[in-house]
Amino acid sequence: MQPKILAGQRVLVTGAGRGIGAAIARRCGEVGAHIAVNYRSQRDRAQRVVRWVQDAGSEAMLAPGDVTRSSDVGNVVSNVVQNWGGIEAVVCNAGAPVIRQRAEDVGWETLQQKVLGELKGAWLMVAETFPYLKESGGAVVFVTSGLAERPRTGFLAHGVAKAALNSMVRYLAFEWGSYGIRVNAVAPGLVLTDASKEVIGRQMDAPDVPLGRLATAEEVADAVVYLLSPQASGLTGVILPIAGGGHLGSGGFLRQ
Ligand SMILES: NC(=O)c1ccc[n+]([C@@H]2O[C@H](COP(=O)([O-])OP(=O)(O)OC[C@H]3O[C@@H](n4cnc5c(N)ncnc54)[C@H](OP(=O)(O)O)[C@@H]3O)[C@@H](O)[C@H]2O)c1
Repeated sequence: MQPKILAGQRVLVTGAGRGIGAAIARRCGEVGAHIAVNYRSQRDRAQRVVRWVQDAGSEAMLAPGDVTRSSDVGNVVSNVVQNWGGIEAVVCNAGAPVIRQRAEDVGWETLQQKVLGELKGAWLMVAETFPYLKESGGAVVFVTSGLAERPRTGFLAHGVAKAALNSMVRYLAFEWGSYGIRVNAVAPGLVLTDASKEVIGRQMDAPDVPLGRLATAEEVADAVVYLLSPQASGLTGVILPIAGGGHLGSGGFLRQ
């Protein structure tokens, strides 16, 4: 039995139907949080995550909606507040699709779409939940990426977009600290999910990761639990790499 370190927290996780978001929802539920499971289209998978959380003894609800659509975000947040009366934490995990292209092949439209997609999804959600986070002295965690700080061939648009999110984390932490709102990020290295399999294909080894293996979605989720917990009450504006030490790597991985 795990200590219920998030007991009573009402947590909204975006993109929680599968992959890293689903692991975050499950882990937060296992340690006592109520979880609103946001997803865009795959209802069955999101419903499965709701069941995991309920089986762990916590409350969970479906919160469908596209985080890049203002009206959807408004509906998601008002449904959660109608059900549970407030929100203590938001995890902005849903990202814009990753396209792997060499820098010279990245068109302006692609770069613009990627950067705006990442920023919009995160921004609309934090702006909409701000009154509730202010009321509860809550916390925000963004899921960014190690690629923001450590270039790898083919990921210019993704890295630039996630770097903008890292900057948003620091600015929000700086300004919203006075309301008692903490804003942090996890920056995973490569993690096996539907999205990464699509982009990387078979190349899933980790030659320049000091721990000798990729981090798992569950390890990313454990870091999010920590950042949301009272144990991290002194932390804000932090970007935490979850990459088995891959953020220290030489650059051999994915260089081709
Ligand atoms: N996997 C990695 O190696 C890795 C590494 C570093 C950072 N990250 C970041 O971690 C996050 C999750 O990645 P992942 O690999 O777990 O992705 P994934 O397996 O593709 O899962 C994406 C989830 O997000 C939902 N989603 C996508 N766009 C959405 C939107 N506009 N509005 C609402 N929900 C949306 C999907 O909903 P549906 O199921 O309904 O489509 C799905 O539940 C992303 O921000 C990604 O950039 C991933």
